[in-house]
Amino acid sequence: MMIDTLVVDPVYGAIVGAIDKKAEPVAEQKAGLEDIVATSSAICYLDGDRGVLAYCGHDIHDLAEYATFEEVCYLLWHRRLPTRAELGDLQSQLAAARPLPEAIIRLMRQMPAVDGMDALRTLTSALAHYDREAAETSPAAQYRKAVRLTAQVSTLVATWGRLQAGAGPIDPDPVLGHAANFLYMLTGNRPGATAVRAFDVALILHADHELNASTFAARVSAATLTDMYSAVVGAIGALKGPLHGGANADVMRLLLELGENATSDRVESAIRAKLARKEKIPGFGHRVYHTEDPRATHLRQMSKELGIKAGQPSWFQMSQQIEAMVKAEKKLNPNVDFYSASTYYTLGIPIDLYTPIFAVSRMSGWTAHVLEQYANNRLIRPRADYIGPAYPQRWIPVAQR
Ligand SMILES: CC(C)(COP(=O)(O)OP(=O)(O)OC[C@H]1O[C@@H](n2cnc3c(N)ncnc32)[C@H](O)[C@@H]1OP(=O)(O)O)[C@@H](O)C(=O)NCCC(=O)NCCS
Repeated sequence: MMIDTLVVDPVYGAIVGAIDKKAEPVAEQKAGLEDIVATSSAICYLDGDRGVLAYCGHDIHDLAEYATFEEVCYLLWHRRLPTRAELGDLQSQLAAARPLPEAIIRLMRQMPAVDGMDALRTLTSALAHYDREAAETSPAAQYRKAVRLTAQVSTLVATWGRLQAGAGPIDPDPVLGHAANFLYMLTGNRPGATAVRAFDVALILHADHELNASTFAARVSAATLTDMYSAVVGAIGALKGPLHGGANADVMRLLLELGENATSDRVESAIRAKLARKEKIPGFGHRVYHTEDPRATHLRQMSKELGIKAGQPSWFQMSQQIEAMVKAEKKLNPNVDFYSASTYYTLGIPIDLYTPIFAVSRMSGWTAHVLEQYANNRLIRPRADYIGPAYPQRWIPVAQR
């Protein structure tokens, strides 16, 4: 170790140690663990150069066209598509698990009007207290928890949205599928076929994405053999951040700041000013994709079609202009969050629920990864390049510091 930089304590001004300069470039290289392969997984295939995303070998474009969210859940948990009977069983299990414990609804009513992701984090954690199998570790019990969490988190988010709007909770309808149930529990109205399919596709597109930050957080927790609830609560915390799932709500805030029907001059000057200030434009850029994010292809189309149908085409038009500018100026493509914002907006979903909805879908992927981790576990415990004060430091009694 070569010690060549003295470190001065910012408060006391005393020399407290030295930095090993040679260690810094190593830490730089691995910043953000970019391109580091941290585990093996049979769940998600991602090719960032070709823009390919596949769940267990099934291309996302096929899934978005033909699958339902329930089929995708089965696929992620079992690594193969279900037969008709298996799908029916899963639909029944989800329907049976959807209603929330009364105590959870009481807790929701007592909570202050916090951010939707903060509420989701607390309420998902609280769900564990009402699950008799929370600490059960058999594979069958873990699987049942994956189903329950996926079913209940949707009811949680829809019910939270309703209570925040000053309305009462609506019980899930066992006849409706996952996407339709969410929209029904949120609005109290039977959703139309177009809205249900759009929401179902949005859930499919968000279900899994290899070792994204929140899934990695879930796997790191699961690898300590903590319970599934603890693992997914950590994932919810990671998803909340504006560099991850929080970006979809930020996109809509940006569009609203510009205003519906904003002129193209206004859009252009606002985006140019942001780029000049080196601000990040939410919904652009990706750690893995160096080309079009295949999920954005579908969401762009959905945003366009739903915008026209809802008589609000301007959100899509403004988004398109922003996309063209950011592509030209920064060579960055829209990611999954960019067009999901205007898609959810035209579906009438409150902005505070956009990131929680990401979690409603991603719960399927998180739990699939947690199951995979439990099935072949080894504690995840990497190392850090130490660049702090040199060892050993001399102990100075407090009176002499
Ligand atoms: C997704 C994201 C976190 C990936 O981050 P990353 O791989 O660490 O890339 P960096 O943040 O280091 O960005 C690399 C360069 O592109 C720029 N850049 C990245 N995303 C940008 C954005 N959305 N708007 C403007 N510039 C952006 C950075 O400023 C940086 O430029 P520089 O080299 O001149 O400093 C990043 O693109 C981002 O913050 N996007 C906005 C938030 C978002 O949409 N998140 C959802 C991701 S699915």
